[in-house]
Amino acid sequence: MRRPKFDMTLFRERRSRLGSRITGGALIAPAAPEYIRNNDVHHSYRQDSNLFYLTGFEEPESVLVFRPGKQPETIMFVRSKDALRETWDGFRYGIDGVEKDFGVDKAYLIDEFEKVAPDLLMDVDRVYYTLFHDIEFDERIGRVLLGVKNMRRRSGRGLLPISDALPVIGEMRLVKSDYEARTLRQACQISAEAHVELMKFVRPGMNERELQGRFVYEIMKRGSAREGYGSIIAGGSNATTLHYVFNDQPLHPNDLVLVDAGGEFDFYTGDITRTYPVGGKFSPTQKRLYSKVLNLQKDLIKMIRPGLPFNQLQEKTIEGLVDVMLDEGLLKGNKKEIIEKGDFRAYYPHGVSHWLGMDVHDAGMTELNGEPRRLEPGMAFTIEPGLYIPAGDQKAPAELRGIGIRIEDNVLVTAEGCENLTAAAIKEVDELEATIGTAN
Ligand code: GLY
Ligand code: MN
Ligand code: MN
Repeated sequence: MRRPKFDMTLFRERRSRLGSRITGGALIAPAAPEYIRNNDVHHSYRQDSNLFYLTGFEEPESVLVFRPGKQPETIMFVRSKDALRETWDGFRYGIDGVEKDFGVDKAYLIDEFEKVAPDLLMDVDRVYYTLFHDIEFDERIGRVLLGVKNMRRRSGRGLLPISDALPVIGEMRLVKSDYEARTLRQACQISAEAHVELMKFVRPGMNERELQGRFVYEIMKRGSAREGYGSIIAGGSNATTLHYVFNDQPLHPNDLVLVDAGGEFDFYTGDITRTYPVGGKFSPTQKRLYSKVLNLQKDLIKMIRPGLPFNQLQEKTIEGLVDVMLDEGLLKGNKKEIIEKGDFRAYYPHGVSHWLGMDVHDAGMTELNGEPRRLEPGMAFTIEPGLYIPAGDQKAPAELRGIGIRIEDNVLVTAEGCENLTAAAIKEVDELEATIGTAN
């Protein structure tokens, strides 16, 4: 027997706000598909962020149909209670449990979706659904919409129009409520503390994988259900691969290690990167480069305030990093031309920020009506400048080759500026040097 951890008024209130954005329509949000890992074993399951955002329901093979202003308004399709399957795979709420515990007006079995859903959509003027996200479910939606069309054959109204649900829910998720800010703050704090534990734990000769294992332990000990994304634990020149996935190499004493990892707490995630010397002391070259990226990162955080166009953070980052590249002899020539031609991308190929929330690269539009988005209180995002010099770059000064540095914090825009949610993850050179390896 399980009980929902969350107060259902949270989800009812979200659906009510969604209702005023889709008046006359209906939203269909399916569960995330389950994926086979090997033979009859599945990858560990995480609910689709939008379905969770609107219901708090975590079981696979479920669908929300939400029809604001109609009765029943909130309908769920779910798996049946099944003693045998529950013996093997665990508790299921079933129809009665969903109606009782999740504040749902009416529940049906998932197998009845194609039969029941056309009736539910007969009187709506539009369906909000994200196509091409789950092709198998698209086919089921296709059958439902054809069912509606056939039922309304003589009306001459044709197929119900479909609008993408993503921007509608994404705009809601972009500005965090007090509850969401609290939850994200907790996820970021857990992630920050786990990063500091890793700094203490690291020592030369350890494998990258050991650090990942320790990170997972530290976040779970603090209440995380899982990592918010695949951790990147990149020693030495592995750090020049932006989304390094192998995490299986030994860490060398004179190298830096880049750790990009975040813990998820109640479906919100942190996304922190720290880069520091495996052996506990920066070399003069590492320190010089690191300090330049750090100073820029701190300047960027100081810029954040309501009204700032989001793209100005990336512009400032490019300006600042091109200065570093010229200074360090990585690039030569005229700054303006380097920026116009994009030559800096050889050493800084990504963006400095992305929205943060339930998804590490969270929902919400970065532009509105063709204009860069202006920051508002409640928006959360990353600040993550980086500099990456490939090991085999014969044009780069030899002492810089193979160095990859990224420093990433998570911020929440406030009325006056921003709150750094990941400030507990130390990043000053002297603080790092005083901390690294102290658990050994
Ligand atoms: N962890 C992926 C990113 O920083 O965007
Ligand atoms: Mn990251
Ligand atoms: Mn990030």
